[in-house]
Amino acid sequence: MGKRKTILSGIQPSGKLHIGNYFGAMRQHIQMQDEGDAFYFLANYHSLTSVSDGEKLNQFTRDVVLDYLALGLDPEKCTFFAQSDVPQTTELAWILGCLTPVSLMEKGVSYKDKVAHGLNPNIGLFTYPILQAADILIYHSDLVPVGEDQKQNIEICRDLAGKLNRAYDKELLVIPKEYIVKSVATVPGIDGRKMSKSYQNTIDIFDEGKSLKNRVLSIQTDSTPLEDPKDPDTCNVFSLIKLFANKNLSDEIADKYRKGGYGYGHAKKELLELINNYFDDARQRRKVLSNDKDYVNDVLKEGGEKARERAESVMEPIRSATGLFRSFTY
Ligand code: ADP
Ligand code: TRP
Repeated sequence: MGKRKTILSGIQPSGKLHIGNYFGAMRQHIQMQDEGDAFYFLANYHSLTSVSDGEKLNQFTRDVVLDYLALGLDPEKCTFFAQSDVPQTTELAWILGCLTPVSLMEKGVSYKDKVAHGLNPNIGLFTYPILQAADILIYHSDLVPVGEDQKQNIEICRDLAGKLNRAYDKELLVIPKEYIVKSVATVPGIDGRKMSKSYQNTIDIFDEGKSLKNRVLSIQTDSTPLEDPKDPDTCNVFSLIKLFANKNLSDEIADKYRKGGYGYGHAKKELLELINNYFDDARQRRKVLSNDKDYVNDVLKEGGEKARERAESVMEPIRSATGLFRSFTY
C-alpha cells in the first residue's frame, strides 16, 4: 500500500455559505475525508482581503465551522482548523513572495475579477495566490480539491514550489497535483448568473421557512405561459432541481416541463421541498451543535494543534535552508 495522500482545501469564512459552495466545494471536502489524510481550514487571513469587521469575521468563522460539522465533516477523520492558528503559513508566504515576480501576480484573473466586482484593490488581494500557495505547501499536500475557478491559483502554487526548491537546490516542498472537481457545473443564482455572495443572488444552505421560500420564489424565469411546453435545460429552477433530485425524479420533472401545463410556480414548489428534505438532517444537527458553546473552540483547538505540528516540520528545514535566524522553538 502506498503512502496515504495528504488532501488539503480551504474555504473563506466571508459570509453565509450557499448551495453553490456546497455543491462546488463542501460536498467534495466531506466525501474526501475518507480518502486520505485530509486537512481542511477556514481561510480567515484570506477573508481579511474583503472583511474588515472583526466581530463579523469571528462570527462567520464560527458559523462556517458549524455548517461543515452539521453537513457531515468529522473532526475525528480529518484535521479541521483555522488558518490563523498556523502562523507558519504567513511565514512561508513571505518567503515565497520574495521569489514571486510581480508579473506573475499581474496575470492573476481572480484579482481582476474581484476588483471588477467592487472589492477593494488592496495588496492582500493582489498577493492572495501567494498566501494560498503557502496554505497548500506548508502541509506537503498532494491533492487540492477545488472548483474550476481556482485552477490558476493552483498552477501558481506549483510554480512557486518549484521556484523555492530550485532557489535552494533542495526538495523543500512537495509539488501538489491539482484536483479540479468537475462533477458539478457552476451553480446558478436566483438571477441566473453564477451563484455568489458578491452578487447577492444566493440561496443559503441553512436558510429555512419563509425566508427560504421567498428566495426560491424569486428565482428568475422567462414568461412562457403556464399551459405552454417549456425547455428544462434553459431554466434556472430546473438547474437547481437537478442538484437535489435523483435521476428518476429529475427526468420526471423534465417531462412535465416539455409536456406543458406545468408552470414555473409548480417547479419552484418542488424545488423548495427538495431543498428542505435534503438539508433537514443537517439543520437539526446544526441546532444541536450550536447549543454546545465549547464545541467549536474544542474542534478548532485540536485541529490547530495537529496542523501546526505538521506545518512546523515543513517550515523548519526551510528556515534553515534560507538562513533565517531563529533563537526559539515552538
Ligand atoms: P463566492 O463566489 O460566494 O464568494 P467563493 O469564491 O468563496 O464563493 O467560493 C468558495 C468555494 O465554493 C470555491 O471552491 C468555489 O469553487 C465554490 N463555489 C462558489 N460559488 C459556486 C457556484 N456558483 N457553483 C459552484 N461552485 C461554487
Ligand atoms: N481561494 C479559495 C476560495 O476562494 C480558498 C482557499 C484559500 C483555498 N486557500 C486555499 C482553497 C488553499 C484550496 C487550497 O475558495
